[in-house]
Order: sequence, then C-alpha cells, then structure tokens
Amino acid sequence: MGNRLLVCFIALCSIALITLLSRTRNLPERLSYGKSPLTRTAMLKVGDGNLSFWSTKVSDINGTCRPVNNVVFIKTHKTGSTTLATIIERYGYINNLSFVLNPHSHILTDKLFNRNMAYKSPPPLDFKENHKLQFNIITNHARYSRIEMESVIQSGAKYITIIRYPVTNLESAFGYFRLAERLDLTHNKNPFYTFVNEIDKYSTESFFRRPYIRNGQMYDLGLNPENQKSVASIQKKIKDLSREFDLVLIHEYYDESLVLLKNLMCWHFNDIVYIPKGIRSKQFRYNIDNSFEMKIKRWSLADFLLYEHFNRTFWKKIQTYGQTFYNDLHRFRQKQHNVTMTCIEEGAVDTFDAREEKWVLVANATEFCRLLRLEDTQYWKLLAQRQMIAALHRMNFNFTLN
Ligand SMILES: *[C@@H]1O[C@H](CO)[C@@H](O)[C@H](O)[C@H]1NC(C)=O
Ligand SMILES: *[C@@H]1O[C@H](CO)[C@@H](O)[C@H](O)[C@H]1NC(C)=O
Ligand SMILES: *[C@@H]1O[C@H](CO)[C@@H](O)[C@H](O)[C@H]1NC(C)=O
Ligand SMILES: *[C@@H]1O[C@H](CO)[C@@H](O)[C@H](O)[C@H]1NC(C)=O
Ligand SMILES: *[C@@H]1O[C@H](CO)[C@@H](O)[C@H](O)[C@H]1NC(C)=O
Ligand SMILES: *[C@@H]1O[C@H](CO)[C@@H](O)[C@H](O)[C@H]1NC(C)=O
Ligand SMILES: *[C@@H]1O[C@H](CO)[C@@H](O)[C@H](O)[C@H]1NC(C)=O
Repeated sequence: MGNRLLVCFIALCSIALITLLSRTRNLPERLSYGKSPLTRTAMLKVGDGNLSFWSTKVSDINGTCRPVNNVVFIKTHKTGSTTLATIIERYGYINNLSFVLNPHSHILTDKLFNRNMAYKSPPPLDFKENHKLQFNIITNHARYSRIEMESVIQSGAKYITIIRYPVTNLESAFGYFRLAERLDLTHNKNPFYTFVNEIDKYSTESFFRRPYIRNGQMYDLGLNPENQKSVASIQKKIKDLSREFDLVLIHEYYDESLVLLKNLMCWHFNDIVYIPKGIRSKQFRYNIDNSFEMKIKRWSLADFLLYEHFNRTFWKKIQTYGQTFYNDLHRFRQKQHNVTMTCIEEGAVDTFDAREEKWVLVANATEFCRLLRLEDTQYWKLLAQRQMIAALHRMNFNFTLN
C-alpha cells in the first residue's frame, strides 16, 4: 500500500505540479489588483507574510466553543457560492487545513463525488504513510454524495450548502451561461422573458449540456433528473437533506446566513468577512416579471420545494440563536463596511471577464485585504501547490519554487 501510494504520488504530483505551474505562468496580465500586480511569485507568497492580524483574539466568541476545522460545502451553481467558497478556502489556508482537490481544475467534478477523487488529490499536509486518507475540507464543485464524502473527511465535519430563490437562480444561469446567444434570442427585446414563456419547448433536456437550467440546485445536492419528477421523491430528498445538513445558507439573506455559519463553526468575524466574487455585469442581467414565478415553479418544482422548506427552517434557526442575533448581524455589517472602506478602490472595476465586475484593491492593500480579494481559482492553486510541495518534501525532495 505504502509503496503503491508513493509511486502514485510521485507520478501524479509531478504531472499536476507541472500543469499547475505552467497555468500559473500563463495568468493574464490583467489579473492585477489595484496598482500592485499580484504576480506569480507574489501570489505564492500571499499568506506567507505576517498573519498575526488573524490570531489577534477578538473577543467575539461567547462561551467556550472550539472552532470547527472540518467542513463539507456543497457548492451549488449561481447561488453566490463562489464567495462562500473563498471564505472557507481562506479559513483553511490560514489554519493549515487540507482540501480534497482536483489537481487539474478548480472544479472537483461535475459528477457525484466519489472517494477515488480523494486518492487523486494532492494528499493532506500531515499525511502519514499507511494511515487512512483523511482531509479537512471539500469546497470545490462536486455533487453531494454523503457516504463517499464521509469516507475521506475527518469525522465531526459540518455539512453546509447555499440555495437561492429559483426564479433569480434561473435568471442568473441564463445570463451566465449566455443562453440568449445559444438559443439565438439576442435579437429579442427581452430574451429571458421569451425563454420563460416558451420554457416547455425546452423540456428536451438533451438540448442543454448543462443540467443547471432545471432544478440545478437539487441536482448539485445529489438528486438525479429522473427523481425530480415525482413530488414524493423530491420530498423524501428534502427530508434527508434536512437531517444531514448542519446549515443551509440562503442567498437572499447572505449576511444573516454568515452569522449563522460563524455561530455553527465557532469562528471569528474576521473569518466570515468577505469581498463579493462573481458579480454579473449589467449586460448579462435580465428583468424579472411577476408572471415568471408560476411558470418557473412548474419547470423547477424540486428547487422551489427545496427553497420553501429551507427558507422556513432558516428563520427558526435565527429564533433559536436568540436576542444576540441582530446585535451580531449589526456588528458583522460594520466590519464588512470597514473592509470595503479600507480594502477597495472606490469606483474601480476589473472587467477582464466581460460577464463579471470585479472589485479592485487599493494600491497599499494589506495582507488581510489581499486574502479577502483572492479568487476561488487562485485559492485552488495555492492550496494544491501547498499540498503537493508538502508531499514532495515528505519524500525528501528538497524543493523550492523559484
Ligand atoms: C506582525 O504584525 C504585528 C502587528 O500587526 C506586530 O506586532 C508584529 O511585531 C509583527 N511580527 C513580525 C514578525 O513582523
Ligand atoms: C454571552 O452570553 C450570555 C448569555 O447567553 C449573555 O448574557 C452575554 O451578554 C453574552 N456576552 C457577550 C459578550 O456577547
Ligand atoms: C501554519 O503553518 C505555518 C508553516 O508551517 C506556521 O508558521 C503557522 O503557524 C501555521 N498556522 C497555524 C494556524 O497553525
Ligand atoms: C422566505 O421567508 C421569509 C420569512 O418567512 C419570507 O418573508 C420570504 O418571503 C421568503 N422568501 C421567499 C422568496 O419565499
Ligand atoms: C471600523 O473601523 C473603525 C475605524 O478604523 C474602528 O474604530 C471600528 O472599531 C471598526 N469597527 C469594527 C466593527 O471593526
Ligand atoms: C493607504 O493609502 C491611503 C491614501 O493614500 C491612506 O489613507 C491609508 O491610510 C493607507 N492605508 C494603509 C493600510 O496604509
Ligand atoms: C535544501 O537545499 C538548500 C539549498 O539548495 C539547502 O540550503 C538546504 O540545507 C537543503 N535542505 C535540506 C533539508 O536538505
């Protein structure tokens, strides 16, 4: 077992590291932040600097809870999940935690998760030969598969996900996946309106290579299209999810969700402050008409039932949290405001990807700000490189990146 793994690591690590490095080298010039370009070297060094700001114990944890380091985040599509992914990645990065990663992509898989993916991942930082392969975190895209995930994640992990009102979720997918172009509706005055009104025409699912146009959230949570048709199987799935998930965040109540997350994980406010990622440009947004709800509800019933259920239980969780909830929310929003004021260059946007408007850091941004601004894909590289280099070091490769 040990030898086989070793050979496997050497082969996989070398190939993957080469891929990673060559990709990193090809980063476009436009990946710059404010006036200080985050070059390849600088990027690798982010976080290697003085991180003491993070350990300054702000007394924002009431009681004696212990921070949770193990988490599985099911990253749904077009729900604000990328911002949440970077929050988790940042936490894991700073706390030296190990992630299940696809060495070739920031997408773990577009299929159901399978434990074999963990064997292809760069191994955990503290991996010991002949020990069971156990990671701290899954946060890149992978469809939910409980047993397979449990088998490679440390016990006691929290399971979380984020969902969004299905009407705006569909509008977002429609814009992001450029469906107006693909459906030849660009000449149309309101392509999304036309699409929704003719939605049954598109029932032939094979048309869409991406399953995220219909019940995409339930799909990400593991429900196959054939089981999305019966209300009974949808309801059974919702029941399973409410038993299995520790927290389902709601896109429409983003900050409230993060305060619940902080409480669940026993984290600090510094761990949940964020700079939004993947904000869609205006030309890829469409108006929503009141008449859409009924039509989309018929089309994406599973996602609607999912949303209704977890929007209900969400507010119950806030009640259980108690009086301090709104104080904490207020405090969190103040911190968010501070971050925006100190980290972000006012009025500047990066539109390298025409579909997105990215905020730009001020020129003298601190390490704290830089970590907040890093993209999901950049964290994936940092984390994959860190785990690979640790694996090579364990095999007595004296390896430095320069
Ligand atoms: C790190 O920064 C803190 C203040 O943010 C400072 O007190 C400390 O001396 C610094 N440590 C090093 C090694 O520079
Ligand atoms: C901690 O919790 C107790 C009881 O829940 C409350 O009375 C107290 O004000 C809280 N302290 C802080 C700093 O939030
Ligand atoms: C993470 O690892 C680095 C390098 O080994 C170490 O300096 C740092 O203190 C560790 N951080 C935590 C939170 O354990
Ligand atoms: C979610 O629940 C809240 C509180 O009950 C309600 O006001 C809101 O309309 C619900 N949102 C949706 C989109 O159904
Ligand atoms: C926000 O920043 C101001 C000024 O730096 C500071 O006085 C205040 O305590 C900060 N608020 C929070 C919630 O961190
Ligand atoms: C960054 O520069 C601005 C204006 O030049 C200044 O007000 C601010 O204090 C600086 N921030 C840091 C962290 O040095
Ligand atoms: C690794 O190599 C560097 C320079 O090549 C050397 O200074 C260092 O001592 C080596 N470390 C180990 C653990 O062999």
